[in-house]
Amino acid sequence: MCGIVGFIGNQNAKEIILNGLTRLEYRGYDSAGLSLFNNRYQIFDVYKDEGRVQKLIDSTLNAPFSNIGIGHTRWATHGKVNQENSHPHYSQTRRFIIVHNGVIENYQQLKDQYLSKSNFTSDTDTEVIAQLIETFAQTLHVENAITTTLKLLHGSYALLVLDSNDPEKIYAAKYKSPLIVGHSESGITIASDLMALVGYSDTYHALEDKSFVVARREDVKIFNLDHVPLDIKFKPIELDDSDTTKGDYPHYMMKEIHEQPSVIRRIITNYYDKEQSLIKPEILSVMRDSDRIYILAAGTSMHAGLVGKQLIERLTSIPVEVHIASEFAYQNPLISKNPLFILVTQSGETADLRACLVSINERNYRSLTITNVPTSTLAREATYFLELYAGPEIAVASTKAYVAQVSVLAILAYELSTKSFDLKKEMSIAATSMEHFLESEKILDIVRLFLTRRNCFFIGRGLDYCVGLEAALKLKEISYIQTEGFAAGELKHGTIALIEDGTPVIALISDPKINGNTRSNLKEVQSRGAYTFHIVTESCKRDGDEVILEDVHPLLTPLVMVVPTQLIAYYAALERSYDIDKPRNLAKSVTVE
Ligand code: AGP
Repeated sequence: MCGIVGFIGNQNAKEIILNGLTRLEYRGYDSAGLSLFNNRYQIFDVYKDEGRVQKLIDSTLNAPFSNIGIGHTRWATHGKVNQENSHPHYSQTRRFIIVHNGVIENYQQLKDQYLSKSNFTSDTDTEVIAQLIETFAQTLHVENAITTTLKLLHGSYALLVLDSNDPEKIYAAKYKSPLIVGHSESGITIASDLMALVGYSDTYHALEDKSFVVARREDVKIFNLDHVPLDIKFKPIELDDSDTTKGDYPHYMMKEIHEQPSVIRRIITNYYDKEQSLIKPEILSVMRDSDRIYILAAGTSMHAGLVGKQLIERLTSIPVEVHIASEFAYQNPLISKNPLFILVTQSGETADLRACLVSINERNYRSLTITNVPTSTLAREATYFLELYAGPEIAVASTKAYVAQVSVLAILAYELSTKSFDLKKEMSIAATSMEHFLESEKILDIVRLFLTRRNCFFIGRGLDYCVGLEAALKLKEISYIQTEGFAAGELKHGTIALIEDGTPVIALISDPKINGNTRSNLKEVQSRGAYTFHIVTESCKRDGDEVILEDVHPLLTPLVMVVPTQLIAYYAALERSYDIDKPRNLAKSVTVE
């Protein structure tokens, strides 16, 4: 969940690292730190404190030039958010300086077994790694000291290590947490996300688990933990500045909401050549042959999975179960004879999902990861993977990835069906309808009118219920308003007790068949004082409805219905002056269980 950037070469490492950390700050923003070589004193200086990267930029304004350095943005797991626990951490004599993303599960045991005489300055699991390397380096060559340490670690890590005795190298290693090596004429950049490399590297290599890297100014070598050299396959970086910056938008979230129509169009282009689907036939036949599909995911991706279940079950005869990844991983649910597991994940790094995939692979089941990051762990470790083509999603609150996930699941469902309609055409209509809404939306006025309370409900039925769950997550995630997504008909079975004068209840209605039922549920809450607000499609509209969206194909309504709810969340957070792109306590990719 943390962001890591290191650079060695013939340029100013500070600038490259700080720019990289700024781009990776969405991965964690409890603290930021940097280590640079001080040529005058021949030591690595360490600058670190709680707070954002901007604070680090300010505090390193006068740092001397260094061509080597490592940096980190933290999402705290072990130890409070404070200066001591910020990365980089150092070993006792300060010979080794390290930054780490991941969790070392056996750190206490390692501390007791090997480091009883060492003094610790932080509460982190990371410091144990630095101390172990130093301990082993007393008798071993530094590279062996590092790999000996790595072999003792249980858990996950992406690591960068500096050795004060040899300021001409950065060592790096990875297990479960992502790490990417970038290359250009001017040097080697190593980071936890491709975005940090844009503008500084021309090509990249995504490291495999248990790789050990020795990077020097002029070259990089990669080994396994037994020092056997591994192949390096550098690929061109295809992202550019427009993918990593906000452009004219005030926040990444707003930019990403507005990108949604083009994401749908990009998916159509990447998944179809004229009428021909470009999905590997093997994936479709495995799906067709499976007796049950298990969709596993977390958060927003799980909500997209709920929509996917309805689409697959409405268009095919394959039963689908949707499971929250963290629950599925350790509950041993009964599995059918011939299952297919679909892992839906924007980042491809979610630890709860990885735990599921490890056990799926151990049991030799087939799996398909649908992800936005083709280099991610879950893309690489599943039997098959499909890309979301949403482009980098930087706001912590997921928007365009949800739309991409629903779109790809819709394509899969459709390709397994009798194809009774033209999906490509219907998806294009949905994209255009989204655009029409975004051009003229007045959600801010509406939000000002009634979202002043500290609680809120979204209600809907069928696909609208799935969207309501996602709408509620979005609103609570960035505006901190306590919100529930509820099946409209279920409210009266208990939860209606929470409705008071002025409680906002937002209804989502896109299915004419159940329009009347949801309207009755609205009457029930109105008569108990609720302030109701209606988001409906044209064919469901009635007098007084506040947001009316153009009709789209009945299976694609989640694509358009979700957009006003994303804006409600956005404006509610804006009105409260909260940090929209980096909400409190969160981080973009959740790489701890
Ligand atoms: C949504 O806004 C969240 N940030 C979160 O729920 C997210 O969808 C979840 O953590 C799953 O992440 P993934 O899609 O990268 O696996």
